Amino acid sequence: MQIFKVGGAVRDRLLGLPVTDIDWVVVGATADEMIGKGYRPVGADFPVFLHPQTGEEYALARTERKSGRGYGGFTFHASPEVTLEEDLIRRDLTINAMAEDDQQNLTDPYHGQRDLEARILRHVSPAFAEDPLRVLRVARFAARYAGLGFTVASETLELMRQLSESGELEALTAERSWKEISRALMEDQPQVFIEVLRDCGALKVLMPEVDALFGVPQPEAHHPEIDTGLHTLSVLEQSALHKQPLTVRWACLLHDLGKGLTPEEAWPRHIAHEHTGLKLIKAVNERFKAPKDCQELALLVGQYHTHGHRALELKASTLLELLQSFDVYRRPQRFEEFIVACEMDARGRKGLEQRSYPQADYLRGAASAARGVAVQPLLEKGFKGPELGEALKRERLKALKAYKENA
Ligand code: CTP
Repeated sequence: MQIFKVGGAVRDRLLGLPVTDIDWVVVGATADEMIGKGYRPVGADFPVFLHPQTGEEYALARTERKSGRGYGGFTFHASPEVTLEEDLIRRDLTINAMAEDDQQNLTDPYHGQRDLEARILRHVSPAFAEDPLRVLRVARFAARYAGLGFTVASETLELMRQLSESGELEALTAERSWKEISRALMEDQPQVFIEVLRDCGALKVLMPEVDALFGVPQPEAHHPEIDTGLHTLSVLEQSALHKQPLTVRWACLLHDLGKGLTPEEAWPRHIAHEHTGLKLIKAVNERFKAPKDCQELALLVGQYHTHGHRALELKASTLLELLQSFDVYRRPQRFEEFIVACEMDARGRKGLEQRSYPQADYLRGAASAARGVAVQPLLEKGFKGPELGEALKRERLKALKAYKENA
């Protein structure tokens, strides 16, 4: 039995990056031998085991053959005869298909090291097509390593295009897709993830609502970049530059979906896109079973981002409605995330990235003015039930009027 370190751990060590997860491949062993040594099998049919002490994954060297559509359609062939090279050839990218023994001797039959140096994401073999999730994985690696100068090889992009056109992407489960999407959005350059998906035709399949934004113009006076798709990419880029959490990044990606529905005759204006977009945002949210906080923020940002931009002109009563819609009294953090998403939207415009966004502090001030209204004096005056709610609203409105006058 021989044991090798494989995949991301080898790749990232060679790139000089920190290694967190280590995957191992075991050549020349049977499942029974592994169990005999105390390794715990992960699933009944899956030739993967957990180390009894470290909990790291040890997979028997295997070849995979496709037996049907989608991820369920795999048969595994793991046996002591499968060589390291046979195992590596079925992996996704050459930079992920290197192995290392305990002396750090590299096995690199598919020239992963050469591609690391050339900064190329290249598939290893036609076996790439066995798992359509790899289309998303490559786009995610492109987003992660864009800063190091990595790009996708043209032949790999072509294969990704064929996979996207084949209908295979539709067979991916929401859970697997979301895992890739959410990880990709948290990378340094999440906009590259969307760009690569678009370049290979996968965006049209996975998120046609986002794909539809490319080629849709906006008024140049507000949006020097004009194109709504390019604007969306810039907003996403800003959200990463400003280290925003996943909720905000997801909301940034989806905030303008309504603009894809504007009839061409009405271009470049997009009246009421905040409302028309809501059903699209809901559809994308549900397609990927995004977590509840991501879903909620995306819908709220979609509906209210133009309110955010016009914050300084809003009447006190409209400000109050906005704050109520966010339930800012119980969910202050969600309102803060809305504010920063609006700011990213404003900064995601060509040449305006550095422009100040006074709306943000103004909205924060309004929220704290409304939140500053104390309930106790109203209770002491005998208000309860719906009347207490009304009284609170009146007091908050007063506080917002005073805030506006002093701002
Ligand atoms: N792999 C693959 N195809 C997949 C998933 C994984 O070929 N759909 C292979 C790759 O060789 C990959 C290894 O399994 O390097 C480990 O997979 P995973 O832990 O998902 O990814 P890492 O490459 O370790 O990358 P990350 O840093 O994102 O965890």
